[in-house]
This record gives sequence, C-alpha cells and structure tokens, in this order.
Amino acid sequence: MADADLYRPEDAAARSDYWENVHDGKDEDGVSWWQSVPELSLGLVDETGLGIDRSVIDVGAGWSTLVDHLVERGYTDLTAIDLSMTALTTVRERVGAVPGRLDLDVADVLDFRPGRTFALWHDRAVFHFLTEEDERDDYRLSLEHCLEPGGFVVVATFGPDGPLTCSGLPIVRYTHEELAAEFPGYRLVSTSGEDHVTPWGTRQQFTAILLQHEG
Ligand SMILES: C[S@@+](CC[C@H](N)C(=O)[O-])C[C@H]1O[C@@H](n2cnc3c(N)ncnc32)[C@H](O)[C@@H]1O
Repeated sequence: MADADLYRPEDAAARSDYWENVHDGKDEDGVSWWQSVPELSLGLVDETGLGIDRSVIDVGAGWSTLVDHLVERGYTDLTAIDLSMTALTTVRERVGAVPGRLDLDVADVLDFRPGRTFALWHDRAVFHFLTEEDERDDYRLSLEHCLEPGGFVVVATFGPDGPLTCSGLPIVRYTHEELAAEFPGYRLVSTSGEDHVTPWGTRQQFTAILLQHEG
C-alpha cells in the first residue's frame, strides 16, 4: 500500500513534469537505477530466443543503455519510449545513427497506441510506480495493444526486500508470484532478479519475470 504522505503525480501532465525534472541537469549515473550494462535485461532478451530482426520496445527506458547494447548485438527494430525528452535525447546522442530502426518517442505508457506491435516488451522499474489498480489496467491495455500474438514481456520491479520508494515516489514491491498474477493471459516463462548496486553503492532488490502471451 502506498504511503499517503508521499507526493504522487495525479495525472499525465504531472507525471510528465515530474520525470522531466528528474532527468534535467543530471548526469546519467546521477540516478539510482543507472546500469552501464543491463545484464539481467540482456539475459532475459537472450532467453526469449528472438532473432535480431524481431522488434523490441523498452517502455520507460529513461537513459537506459539497453538499446545501445541491442544495437551493438545487431537488432534492427528497436523502440524506446519515456515521458522525459531529456532522457531520450541523451540516448540519441549516445547511440547516434544506427543501421536499422531506432524509434525514441516521448510517450506515456499508460495510453500508448503506436499503431504497430512488438515481439518483446521490456519494462525495468516502471510498472512498480503504478500504485492504483486503474493505472495498472491502463498499462495492461497498452501492453495488449502493443504486443504481437505470442510475444514476450519482461517486467522488473523492486522485490519484497527492495526500497519502499523509487525516485521519491511511492511504489509497489512484488514477489515473483504477485508480479506474474498482475498479467493474466500470459504464461510465466521464468523468474529471476538481481541486487542492483546503485551508483552510490547501496543495494536494491529487483524481482523480474519473463512472460509470453498465450494468444
Ligand atoms: C526508475 S526509471 C527506470 C529507467 C529505465 N527503465 C532503467 O532501467 O534504467 C523510470 C523511468 O520511467 C519513466 N516513466 C515513468 N512513468 C512513465 C510513464 N507513465 N510512461 C513512460 N515513461 C514513464 C521515467 O521517466 C523514467 O525514465
């Protein structure tokens, strides 16, 4: 249950302002979730067995290096969305021109309708901000619109022993079972996790699941 005393953006505009301010003026390793190599995520992408010609979207990507590493591995159809233009501009400057498709779009995952589908949906540390059931319903609806039949989903959140807040916002911590239960209609392929070490040396427990759409 979320702490009632914590600030919580109430609508899309407030969410957008909040996250732009989080990134504005910071260095990439100035946020607790920074990873130079997102090993857990890359391992889960490998586990899907999807070829490098298949489409991958990273939702709430921030300035994660996941797309950098996927470009390096030869993936040719990549998308990253985030509420923060600053974060995505940083990614564009870092990655530069790529041989394939790399769409970096400012968008809210809660009402994302890109008019196309993806073979893999990746979310690290976004779903856990959705403390209200109606927000999680909106997220699931976006996922349903965006995922190919039989597509894969990676969701990583703080675990049961993880922090109570992330970036100053209330979050929901999940066990593997609780997280998988949020996605009816998806087969649980595997469970994993990590103790993420923040740039200032503290540890954050993450729960991760890999799902596959049963359609
Ligand atoms: C804790 S950070 C994680 C960033 C990235 N996934 C990573 O692992 O490095 C959460 C990110 O989600 C973005 N975000 C939060 N709510 C969002 C929403 N409703 N739609 C799109 N992006 C969102 C924030 O701007 C921020 O970049």
